[in-house]
Amino acid sequence: MDRETLTAQALAFIDRETGGVVPPIHTSTTYARDEQYRLLSTAEYTRDDNPTYRRPELLLAELEGAADARLFSSGMAAATTAVQALVAPGKRIVASRAMYHGFRLWLREHCQASSIDLELVDATDLAAVREATRKRPALVWVETPANPTWDVVDIKAVAAIAHEASAVLAVDCTIATPVHTRALALGADLVMHSATKGLNGHSDVLAGALVTARDDDAWKRIRHLRHMQGAVLGPFEASLLLRGMRTLFVRMERASASALALATRLSAHPSVERVLYPGLPSHPGHQIAVAQMSGGFGALMSILVRGGASEAIAVAGAAKLFVRATSMGGVESLIEHRATVEGPETLAPPNLLRLSIGLESVKDLYEDLEQALAVLR
Ligand SMILES: Cc1ncc(COP(=O)(O)O)c(C=O)c1O
Repeated sequence: MDRETLTAQALAFIDRETGGVVPPIHTSTTYARDEQYRLLSTAEYTRDDNPTYRRPELLLAELEGAADARLFSSGMAAATTAVQALVAPGKRIVASRAMYHGFRLWLREHCQASSIDLELVDATDLAAVREATRKRPALVWVETPANPTWDVVDIKAVAAIAHEASAVLAVDCTIATPVHTRALALGADLVMHSATKGLNGHSDVLAGALVTARDDDAWKRIRHLRHMQGAVLGPFEASLLLRGMRTLFVRMERASASALALATRLSAHPSVERVLYPGLPSHPGHQIAVAQMSGGFGALMSILVRGGASEAIAVAGAAKLFVRATSMGGVESLIEHRATVEGPETLAPPNLLRLSIGLESVKDLYEDLEQALAVLR
């Protein structure tokens, strides 16, 4: 069956007891055993396993063509668990410099505390990635498209380089979602999602996921750490996430089409210095995006307004329809001055506004940006 069908039907769910078409929420934290002390199902204790987590995990694994997937209590919980499970103290990590700033910050802190050698590189520069892997890292971590310039990393090429050095390649595919990029099919070993974003899509669940190409020792260590540290998603959140995922394809395809239309129009706007969107032929990563993304280029773009930070903040301040808030991938469009949100360590240009495109009318969205940009005239 096509991925759209599996997603819409939540893996063909029908409740055997009631005929219900929506999976129930299993709130039980513990599971009974029979007289011989055998478990009645595979579930034992909800920090390991719960049928309400398992369905969105299995659906995500199907969408990614993966051996398995596990949900976590946030994207950060998923990402930090992966690093802790895969990279022992004293080893080395090569990571893309362009990435979610919160994870970059954590990587710096964690690597310093654990004597892990961290090298941040421009992951679109394959020669730089190759050079950095000469010292044989345990892990190569990239994000694509990457915050907030939407650099596109060539997953196939970076996977080949990482594997030559016997490193694991993990890809944060939050922005693309499995609708637009299937990193495992391109050679990645592990995919990470902040499911808080496009996967859930309604700005009402904090969640993360790891997805693996193989059920190997590395995956066993990740599962063990989740079990030990307990960064699991609660059943109510897992149920909301599954509900959000059931409309994933229509949401992502619509938001991506709107984003492309807006990016194209904004490129010609006199108060916009530059639009950064992988779907535009002017974006440095466009050719790779065309080759490795399908069904659209994602809901995220950035505009560099003419001027500096105060001009960008004035434009955000004048928006009436775009909501001034951080995060992304929801049904409502958001505008944010990334440098303000990221703070002193930011790599974002001061005149950059990040836009997360939702499901509103693209005409209304453009008119809102046009009237907001008018403050610069
Ligand atoms: C690309 C990316 N990865 C990871 C994260 C962290 O996810 P969470 O906020 O769910 O912990 C974010 C959050 O903004 C993100 O944008």
